[in-house]
Amino acid sequence: MTDPHDKQAAMLRIARSGPLAGTCRVLGDKSVSHRALLFGALSDGVVQIDGLGRGGDNLSTAGALRALGVSVDVDGDQAHVVGVGFGGLRAAETALDCGNSGTTIRLLTGLCAGQPFTTVMVGDASLTRRPMRRLAEPLRQMGAFIDGRAEVSKPGEVYPPLSVQGGKLRGIRYALPVPSAQLKSALVLAGLQASGRTEISEPGQSRDHTERMLKFLGAPVSADPARNTITVDPTGWNGRLRATAITVPGDFSSATFILVAALIVDGSDVVVEGVGINPTRTGALDVLAAMGADLTVEQTGEAMGEPVARIRARASRLRGTRVDGLLALRSIDEIPALAVAAAAAEGDTVFADLAELRIKESDRIAAIARELTRAGVKVNERRDGFTVTGLGGRPAQGGTVLPEHDHRIAMAGAVLGLYADESAETSVPADDIATSFPTFAETLRMLGAPMLDA
Ligand code: S3P
Repeated sequence: MTDPHDKQAAMLRIARSGPLAGTCRVLGDKSVSHRALLFGALSDGVVQIDGLGRGGDNLSTAGALRALGVSVDVDGDQAHVVGVGFGGLRAAETALDCGNSGTTIRLLTGLCAGQPFTTVMVGDASLTRRPMRRLAEPLRQMGAFIDGRAEVSKPGEVYPPLSVQGGKLRGIRYALPVPSAQLKSALVLAGLQASGRTEISEPGQSRDHTERMLKFLGAPVSADPARNTITVDPTGWNGRLRATAITVPGDFSSATFILVAALIVDGSDVVVEGVGINPTRTGALDVLAAMGADLTVEQTGEAMGEPVARIRARASRLRGTRVDGLLALRSIDEIPALAVAAAAAEGDTVFADLAELRIKESDRIAAIARELTRAGVKVNERRDGFTVTGLGGRPAQGGTVLPEHDHRIAMAGAVLGLYADESAETSVPADDIATSFPTFAETLRMLGAPMLDA
């Protein structure tokens, strides 16, 4: 991870951009890639993954699986995984390093809860601050022993490093306090190893990659979207996940940064191809459409039961809108990019129902408010959201982005830098971006953006 105060930190320098033009692709979806690696490791044979997102988070999952005794070879965006089934994992000799990745630590905790050994999981400074009680509680009810670091200021909360003493689990009925795909997926992985049924409901539908993929691979998982409930019932199941080749669609969250850049830089016309448009993820398209964005989405195929599209964005005069409720949930990872669109728009954009953003890779509400304010944009911060008063045609200011190890804050700062004043330069710590989108600068450069390495 890069500390921008460290003289050695590699910085990306960004200047005001002329029109962006051309066609590009983004790397494989981060959420789907985690699951492809994990479910591949649990399958009953060799799994070839094509289009793996090869950001730092996905590499953390690959490394953790290797430590659990699985052969995982990653070569660019190809991965070769030799599945060992639920019964073939072995205790890791050292702590699993989950890096910056919440998905890695949470899904692996659910998996290891059902394994007959103890696993310790650690992460970087950002991951070490993320709350795990919401995960520990249901897994403890299922019969696992989960322990973590405590903090005096938050009695009862559990933080990494986590220690998971797995064993025999029993199915439970559990209502998640917040919609969360990471929690839901962890409980599904535990439920597949438990005796009896596990029923998980959530107060709104979070991304459903786990349900789609596991069903496709033959696991006894069924979803009832009308009740936001999924049921796992391993009774009578042979315990096997089918080994099959997996193609990962392009990452919608990465694509959104490119689309927003094209929308706010005058004269731009950009196409992103091969992007996954799972409807639980694409709230940002609806938000941008409501802002007046000139976007066209054309479905071109399907990968692993996930729709894939070609998305064209042309520079547009954006206006403020409101993002809340289900729309906020469907845009959860895109809020930093949407905040940049709001900064360039005319009028106010209200972001609400987003308390979860406070416990992402950083406190994203505070980080967005800080970075937009630094760039000369008015932001009114609230407990569960914020309001951005757009510059409406005026340029932003440059400066140094302080993303606090949050890849999406780093990319949002960089994209806003393309919209800054002629004389202003924006610098962003490059390594933070590599968590999810290591080809970010190269892709924008190819489309004509002035991105320079320090
Ligand atoms: C993810 C789920 C979401 C999302 C994260 C990836 C996943 O987190 O914000 O970037 O792959 O399951 P929560 O489950 O905490 O909402």
